[in-house]
Amino acid sequence: MSPAASPQILDGKALAQKMQGELQAEIATLAPQVSRAPGLAVLMVGENPASAVYVRNKELACEKIGINSFGCHFPEHTSQEELEAVIQDLNQDPRVDGILVQLPLPPHLDAVALLHTIAPEKDADGLHPVNLGHLVRGEAGLRSCTPAGVMRLLTEYNLELAGKTAVVLGRSILVGKPLALMLLEKNATVTIAHSHTRNLADLTRQADILVAAIGKPQLVTADMVKPGAIVIDVGINRISLPDGKAKLVGDVDFDTVAPLASYITPVPGGIGPMTVAMLLQNTVASYLKQWAAGT
Ligand SMILES: NC(=O)c1ccc[n+]([C@@H]2O[C@H](COP(=O)([O-])OP(=O)(O)OC[C@H]3O[C@@H](n4cnc5c(N)ncnc54)[C@H](OP(=O)(O)O)[C@@H]3O)[C@@H](O)[C@H]2O)c1
Repeated sequence: MSPAASPQILDGKALAQKMQGELQAEIATLAPQVSRAPGLAVLMVGENPASAVYVRNKELACEKIGINSFGCHFPEHTSQEELEAVIQDLNQDPRVDGILVQLPLPPHLDAVALLHTIAPEKDADGLHPVNLGHLVRGEAGLRSCTPAGVMRLLTEYNLELAGKTAVVLGRSILVGKPLALMLLEKNATVTIAHSHTRNLADLTRQADILVAAIGKPQLVTADMVKPGAIVIDVGINRISLPDGKAKLVGDVDFDTVAPLASYITPVPGGIGPMTVAMLLQNTVASYLKQWAAGT
């Protein structure tokens, strides 16, 4: 790969809009046959302002394409038992195809136990161990939305992954680990880096595909990137500008890295909208599965 004169932007916003249009048409055709629209329940606890924005965006996206959203917003002090009971009810509710717990949760709550309470077939975020197990085994199942969004974007631009060297920065269960498995599934040679990784730049400079999912604003700089690399920026960080205004930036220093890259995702407008599109797609997939099963 050689550096592009100007990199191609991997436009997650445009692809997410296209996918939403397709899902909207699919729902319009299916809903009369199924006798109901698909349903997504988003559980949010407390008043985390960033979470409130994400939840609102997800609910608006549902509304736009014809998915019923069941907003379940609870006060900060809600107990683990109360939330587990809500999830059990949603598991049984035939109007609900997907359930999502918006993270992070207040510290007194056990997020993992809540995720395990969700019925695997309604696990819209693909984080239940059953779905993660399917991913490890390369079997069909609900896939985690952010890494699935990265893969869908790479596919849209016909980017060949087989035999390529991929370096994933970050090993969270939400992004880094599942994404590494998905890249491996496409026959990339994958390395995962984390906060204990030594000589990070030596590693990242070998990457044909470099993914940053670490939550450190603009940590990836030009000296860390191989010319011609495909650079995927999952990070979303809010920084304060000297004039006091806030700005969203990724984990990649876009201005210095973009001239070197062959393809790069912007922040905002890259992986963020793809995550929402994959959530909607997972919900519709579960809806179809429930319908096929006669429930
Ligand atoms: N676009 C989207 O829709 C979307 C969705 C989810 C997340 N995000 C964003 O993606 C970023 C990562 O999210 P996350 O949930 O995966 O975060 P996380 O759970 O905090 O995990 C961060 C990972 O980065 C690693 N890390 C931290 N500093 C590092 C460094 N200097 N060098 C190498 N690795 C380092 C950590 O290593 P250790 O494991 O050793 O601690 C950890 O594995 C955040 O900015 C988040 O807002 C975006």
